Amino acid sequence: MKTVILDVDTGVDDAFAIMFAARHPDLNLIGITCVDGNTKLSQVLINTLKVLDKAGARQIPVSSGASRPLLETPKYAEHVHGSDGLGDLDTPLSARKIDQRPAIQLLRDLIDSSPNPVTLIPTAPLTNIALFLGAYPESAKKLERIVLMGGSASKGNATEYAEFNVWHDPEAAAIVFKSGVPITMYGLDVFNDLIMNKDDVASLTASKDECAQFAGRLIDHFISVPNLEVTLGDYGAVATAIRPDLATCKKYRVSVDTSFSPTRGQTHCRPVETKDSELGEHDRDAPVVDVVVASDVDGMRKLWLETVNSQSKI
Ligand code: BDR
Ligand code: CA
Repeated sequence: MKTVILDVDTGVDDAFAIMFAARHPDLNLIGITCVDGNTKLSQVLINTLKVLDKAGARQIPVSSGASRPLLETPKYAEHVHGSDGLGDLDTPLSARKIDQRPAIQLLRDLIDSSPNPVTLIPTAPLTNIALFLGAYPESAKKLERIVLMGGSASKGNATEYAEFNVWHDPEAAAIVFKSGVPITMYGLDVFNDLIMNKDDVASLTASKDECAQFAGRLIDHFISVPNLEVTLGDYGAVATAIRPDLATCKKYRVSVDTSFSPTRGQTHCRPVETKDSELGEHDRDAPVVDVVVASDVDGMRKLWLETVNSQSKI
């Protein structure tokens, strides 16, 4: 059993990650923290509670975090995720309550009180995590690992160079990468590989399970958009945490570009074996990160479909 906390900006693919984490029998999801990202924080909170309802999850503390990046002005991705960040499907509001503790305090309390080491899985801009690391370094030391969706060793999506979560708050990402906590980066090099198709929609919507039906409707909503591929996206980071055998990692020195230039938000990734003489000053000091460079697409898709299309473990 792996003990995990998610940090999300729910978001369609964050929803896929939450459904999976709430339902997988070997994952103990002990809390979720929310952050401004795909959409504004208040909507992220609403969406997260709705997804937990649909997943049939037990009561899990969900708390509110940063409503804006450390320095940047928020820039949302509603063109990708719908105006409510969740495909505009008119999903009913949840009766669940938000935990009154701010996100960084919830993280501290959950990590300090967990009998087992916690894996933190951010699938969103890293503002909450950077604030937590600064406020509670002793708690951060107890983390087993951070497995994050963010960054890219190849090209970007928010800009030519930068991936959205890192681009949204580059200063926060730089703090997290340099924190000393072991990090696995599930970035754009693999993020778009877990493509869903009309057969998946048909099998999910035909299910008697409410979570599977909801997932099918979400996928269906986007599958008809021309030139848009629906992928399980953020879920891949959770799959990597629980089933590292489904992900191939390579060690890179990763530095986050915080310059005010066109490359702002880029994660510069240099293979660890690169000679010092071939590295720039920033790269030489950059932390070594396990970067996912390939994934077992069939294995990850099958794992998600089986887990989401099952009875909840209330
Ligand atoms: C990331 O940005 C968001 O749109 C997705 O939810 C994912 O976390 C991809 O760049
Ligand atoms: Ca996300």
